[in-house]
Amino acid sequence: MTDIRGALKQGITELRNAHVPSFTLAAELLLLHVLGRDRTWIYSHPEAEIFPADADRFLKLIARRAAGEPTQHLTGKQEFWGLEFEVTPDVLIPRPETEHLIEVALDRLAVRELRAGRKQTLTGEALQIADIGTGSGCIAIVLAKELPGARIYATDISAAAIAVARRNAARHSVSERIHFLETGLLENLLNVKARYIVPPRSEASNSALREPPTTGHESPLLDLIVSNPPYIGRREAATLMREVRDHEPELALYGGEEGYELYADLITQSAVHLKPGGLLVLELGHNSLPAVQPLLEPPLWLNVTVTNDLAGIHRVIAAERL
Ligand SMILES: C[S@@+](CC[C@H](N)C(=O)[O-])C[C@H]1O[C@@H](n2cnc3c(N)ncnc32)[C@H](O)[C@@H]1O
Repeated sequence: MTDIRGALKQGITELRNAHVPSFTLAAELLLLHVLGRDRTWIYSHPEAEIFPADADRFLKLIARRAAGEPTQHLTGKQEFWGLEFEVTPDVLIPRPETEHLIEVALDRLAVRELRAGRKQTLTGEALQIADIGTGSGCIAIVLAKELPGARIYATDISAAAIAVARRNAARHSVSERIHFLETGLLENLLNVKARYIVPPRSEASNSALREPPTTGHESPLLDLIVSNPPYIGRREAATLMREVRDHEPELALYGGEEGYELYADLITQSAVHLKPGGLLVLELGHNSLPAVQPLLEPPLWLNVTVTNDLAGIHRVIAAERL
């Protein structure tokens, strides 16, 4: 094996023989990773020679992928909302269906602004947002990019996940607007006395430290809470792909025996932290809706919407706090 075409062919064959899903894409991504090239380059230079050390590294990665390690753990990255995120075995690999949660959150915020008679260009000015169970930080970071005026709290029970999320926030230059907290759900938000570095606005600001607004009991008053909580049932573990079951963090996968156990506390705590008219947007597991929808009923919750993903699964539920 000395050229690109030969290497790719061998990688694809080994992954196909190991019944790896999307084996061609996986082999391509691993070769791109090893060579530090893009897809256009490798397909326009099929005869290019590969250094023996690179070929060796590629085949070692192919062997690890064939044994079940996710491609993203081998390349250390995953794209989400057009941005590249670092991923490690400490965080859930961002999934495309989670982009629906962001779409719903941005749509509902825009409708809320329209109803309030404010201008339609939504920059998130003065909005306070929380992402619960932030993992890689993908949701919090995308919201920080989409809403450059917003301040964001991002919580996770896993210190290791928070460390990855912090690095991703730095990579995307939004560290100053995301306050990371290691806590269960929204628990430590109740007494948070976070100090914020105000990001530079239109004119050069001197990065003053400022207290976030509080509810009077020292809890931030949130405009939006988003969460993609762990929602798989432990009883379903045997049905998961080995890439997921054996390599992604249990804390990120399982919500309990059934899967939907965390939603009740998440919704109860969200009701305490949201402003009147504040929005709650939650990702759902494939069978979560019957357990979650009854928790979002009047008089506390209004305007409940359910959004399906591309596979037709009820994927996102959103509601407004009275
Ligand atoms: C399904 S992952 C979502 C990660 C990321 N937000 C995403 O969408 O890719 C759930 C995350 O919630 C965290 N988590 C699990 N139980 C939690 C709890 N009780 N409180 C806060 N975070 C929790 C896990 O560590 C994990 O990072």
